Amino acid sequence: MMDEARTTPPGGEASPSADPDPQPPPDVTVRPARRSDARSYLDMWRRVVAERRFVRTESVTGGVRAYRNLLGDSWSNDRATIVAVAHDRVIGVITIERLRHQVNRHVATIGMAVDADWRARGVGSALMGAAMKWARSSAIEKVSLEVYPDNEAAVALYRKFGFSEEGRLRRQSKKSYGYEDEVIMSRWIADAEPEGAEA
Ligand SMILES: CC(C)(COP(=O)(O)OP(=O)(O)OC[C@H]1O[C@@H](n2cnc3c(N)ncnc32)[C@H](O)[C@@H]1OP(=O)(O)O)[C@@H](O)C(=O)NCCC(=O)NCCS
Repeated sequence: MMDEARTTPPGGEASPSADPDPQPPPDVTVRPARRSDARSYLDMWRRVVAERRFVRTESVTGGVRAYRNLLGDSWSNDRATIVAVAHDRVIGVITIERLRHQVNRHVATIGMAVDADWRARGVGSALMGAAMKWARSSAIEKVSLEVYPDNEAAVALYRKFGFSEEGRLRRQSKKSYGYEDEVIMSRWIADAEPEGAEA
């Protein structure tokens, strides 16, 4: 895939829309998910969910078979599931998915997680870089996501990739321990937000 925003203009300065293209740590590979990743993907996802903090999911219901089907369809014009793999085990994932309604199809949303043992080593950034490449190659114009306001690592990662806060949904999550606000963060893929009529 070409990443056309990573060209350097004649002045030598990086384009304002250029994404960082961070490489994962040397022992980590970032690639589209495969059916055969299902078991270790599920192991990682169960550990992240068991932290009971950063993701909406509070219990994992689907088994390996369900995840095999999900991961077997990991790359299309509407969706990409990209994993970070170390020593044949999934240690991180990002899913980026086009919204379905006809008027929202220029927008994609993201969900991601990195195994706790592998955090703060650039894995999340490498996954986000790969997701932004998918977005460009799939004619996505805007990427939008929701994050819990106290998730400092996630907010820092999203800001690094040009996301900014667009709003806050109060008490949008009702977790087993109580309500959580959700912060909406978005970025435009092209140089700037287009002008036009607003609702
Ligand atoms: C959010 C998450 C995916 C980030 O993954 P990661 O592999 O740790 O991310 P990176 O190592 O690429 O770090 C990205 C940036 O965040 C910042 N960061 C990382 N950990 C941080 C922390 N604990 N506190 C504050 N900032 C932090 C770093 O500054 C880094 O940028 P840098 O290049 O300047 O170092 C990971 O913490 C995670 O899986 N958390 C649990 C699940 C989750 O929160 N998912 C997102 C739900 S919205």
